[in-house]
Amino acid sequence: MELPPRPELFDFHGVSMIHYFTDNWDNVQNFQARPDDILIATYPKAGTTWVSHMLDLMYFGKSSPERAASVPIYERVPFLEVCIQGMPTGVELADKTTLSPRLIKTHFPVQFVPKSFWEQNCRIIYVARNAKDNVVSYFHFDRMNKVEPEPGDWPSFLQRFQEGKMVFGSWYDHVKGWWEKKKSNPKILYLFYEDLAEDMGRELDRVCNFLGVSLNEEERGWVKQGVGFDAMKNNSMANYSTIGVMDFKISPFMRKGKVGDWKNHFTVSQNEQFDEQYKLKMADTTLCFHTEI
Ligand code: PPS
Repeated sequence: MELPPRPELFDFHGVSMIHYFTDNWDNVQNFQARPDDILIATYPKAGTTWVSHMLDLMYFGKSSPERAASVPIYERVPFLEVCIQGMPTGVELADKTTLSPRLIKTHFPVQFVPKSFWEQNCRIIYVARNAKDNVVSYFHFDRMNKVEPEPGDWPSFLQRFQEGKMVFGSWYDHVKGWWEKKKSNPKILYLFYEDLAEDMGRELDRVCNFLGVSLNEEERGWVKQGVGFDAMKNNSMANYSTIGVMDFKISPFMRKGKVGDWKNHFTVSQNEQFDEQYKLKMADTTLCFHTEI
């Protein structure tokens, strides 16, 4: 696919964005959610695909086992705000989904979520990942994904992350904004990447409880097996290898899948500076993350 030059960041209602996620703004904002829709919301690189694949297997793995083996994740779980020439928009894909429940992905900060999701009282699963691993994953993603802005070198990327100059804005605002919203909205389940990595069985049970889904032991077993890092890395319907905009020779989408890979990227002084700023930016929240398990 012939792609235009990499997009530039711009300020959009106070959040750094690129045009691929704002071009369809009116249609996205007017999107008609259905009461049984499940929205999977994350800051980019926080475990979106992991939880998307998990929910898809939970709901449809038994009734349509061929689905996870033949339909790529970006069609099974449409990305609401995406709008890239030559591909169906997220809204188009979601609108034509007849399955129930629809699983829909978004990276929007909470204030950008279309109002029908709130009006319909939809269930929302938010996934958050510790800032250090999140920024490392984002850096490698921006290196290989031709529809993201040029990442520049690691030190400058890290600096811009701290300034919130990333696509979908500040990690701090994102995780805190959704955390605040969750406090008053029982329809939001707030998950952590690190918890999924630590004990998938426990987190799967939490998700099932929240959604009111009951899986028998066998089903539970194959969902757990299907969402393992290696299983997803080797599954072309979960690993994004079928999408034309990513260069896996630079970095694969399923890169490492680890908690603590930041230690291979941050220098001692970058880590100290980061911790100092982190403390200030997180002083006004009860939200806590693990950077190792
Ligand atoms: S995106 O592009 O925003 O939708 O990316 P997202 O899916 O949120 O994040 C990609 C990172 O999640 C890791 N990942 C997993 N880790 C462990 N186990 C499983 N099954 C799994 N699936 C995805 C993926 O490897 C990316 O993290 P990094 O650290 O780059 O490897």
